[in-house]
Amino acid sequence: MNKEIEIFKDIVTELLADEKVNPVIKPIDPTTLFNSLDLSLTAEGTKQQDFIQALKEVVLASPRTTTHRFFNQLFGGRNATATLGDLLATVLNNTMHTYKVAGPMVGIEKVMAKKLCDLIGYGPASEGTIGAGGSMTNFMGILMARDSFNEKIKTEGVHQTMIAYTSKESHYSVSKNATFIGIGRNNVRYIESTETGIMDVEDLEKQIQKDIDAGLSPFFVNGTAGTTVLGAFDPLDKIGEIAKKYNLWFHVDGAYCGSVLFSEKYKHLVKGCEKADSFTLNAHKMLGTPVSCSFIMVKDKKHLFSSFSNDASYLYQMDNDEYNPGKISFQCGRRNDGLKMWALWKSIGDKGLEKIVDHQFDLADIARDYIKNNPNYTYYSFDESIGVCFNYKNISPELLTSELYKSGKLMVGFGKFKTETFVRLVTINYGNKKQDILDFFSILEDFADNDLAKN
Ligand SMILES: Cc1ncc(COP(=O)(O)O)c(C=O)c1O
Repeated sequence: MNKEIEIFKDIVTELLADEKVNPVIKPIDPTTLFNSLDLSLTAEGTKQQDFIQALKEVVLASPRTTTHRFFNQLFGGRNATATLGDLLATVLNNTMHTYKVAGPMVGIEKVMAKKLCDLIGYGPASEGTIGAGGSMTNFMGILMARDSFNEKIKTEGVHQTMIAYTSKESHYSVSKNATFIGIGRNNVRYIESTETGIMDVEDLEKQIQKDIDAGLSPFFVNGTAGTTVLGAFDPLDKIGEIAKKYNLWFHVDGAYCGSVLFSEKYKHLVKGCEKADSFTLNAHKMLGTPVSCSFIMVKDKKHLFSSFSNDASYLYQMDNDEYNPGKISFQCGRRNDGLKMWALWKSIGDKGLEKIVDHQFDLADIARDYIKNNPNYTYYSFDESIGVCFNYKNISPELLTSELYKSGKLMVGFGKFKTETFVRLVTINYGNKKQDILDFFSILEDFADNDLAKN
C-alpha cells in the first residue's frame, strides 16, 4: 500500500497544480477523448509505468467539479477534511450492515442522525440512516409511506390506486420512485407552483379532495426544501397541516437545501419541518462533502425497521439490531459514507457548518446585487435562494451555457420555470469568494460580447 500512497500523492499533487491553471477541462467529443486515453483492458495487465501514466491521464482529463469555475450542479468545491474522512473510509473498507464489521462507524452514523433529528425537532422515537444519494433516500421515504398506509402491500402488492402529491418544481426522483414502489407514475399529482416557485397549497388541497371524491387513496405528500432549479422552499408548515388533516405521510426532500437547519438566519425556510414523517438531507450538496452522503431522518424509527429489516442468519449473527444498521437500510453491503461528514462536523462543529450554509447565501446575494444593478441582465429568481437565475442581453441561455462550456471557460447550466428559460448560477461552493462570483460575470460577459458575438 505504501507504493500506492506515493502514487496517489503524485497524481493528486499534479491534479491540484493543473486545476489552478485549467479550472475547466475543455470538452472533447467522447470518441476522440476515449481514443486519446489508454482505456483498454487486456488479458495480461499493464506495466507499472504505463499503468501509472494511464491512471494519471484519466484523472487529468476528468471534468473539474471542485474548482471556482464550476457552477453547473448542486454540488461543488472540495472540503479537505471531509475528503480525508472519505479516503480513510475507502482504506478501511467497512460495510455498514452490522456492528460486527463497522464498529465505531455505526456510532458515527448514530451520533450524526441523532443531531440531525434534534435539529429537525423530532422526539426520542426518531432515527436516521444514510443512503446512496438523495434519489434513494427519497425512495426510502415514499416506500415507508406506502407500507405505513397499508402494511399488507409488502406481502401482497399494491391493489389500490394510491396517490402521491408533489409540486411541479420537485425533483424527478419523486415520479421515478412512484414507479419503483409500484403505485405507478400516473398516480403522482403535480401540484401547481406559485409565481415564486413554491407549492400552491390551495391547489394541493383541491387535488386531494378531488381524488378522495373519486374513490382514490391519497397517501403521500412531498415538500421540497430547495427546489432543483430555483432553490425555492415549499411552505412546509402548511403542507404539514394538510398532511395531518388527510392522514398523508409527509416527506421533506431537503436533498438540496435541507442543511439550512444549521443556520440561525435561514432555518425559518424549513419552518414546520418537524411535522414531516421523514426528511432527506444531502451533505454532499450544501455541506460540501464528497459525493455522496445522503441522510434520511424518520420521526418514528419503527417505520425504518418495518420497511427495511429482513432476517438473514448468514449476516445478523451478533449484537442488538439497534446497532446493526443493515436492518434499516435499503442496501445490504453499504459504503461508509458517514465518516467524511463526521470528520468535517467533528473538526468545525455546528457553528462551522452554519458558516458554510450562510456563506452560500452571501455569495448568492452578491450575485443578485450584481444582476439587479446591471441593466443588461434579466433576473428570474427570488431572495433567500442559492440558485440565482438570469439572462444576459436576451442571449439564448441554452446557447450561452453550451458555448461557454465548449470554450473551457466556465461550467454553468440553464434551467426552466413556467414559460421562462434562464442561466442558473449555483452558489453552492462555499470555498468561493466574492471575487469568484464577480469573475463569473466578467467571464460570461466577455465571452458573450466578444467570442459569441463574432460567430
Ligand atoms: C431537490 C432534489 N432532490 C433530490 C435530488 C437527488 O439527489 P442525488 O443527486 O443525491 O440523488 C436532487 C438532486 O439534485 C435535488 O435537487
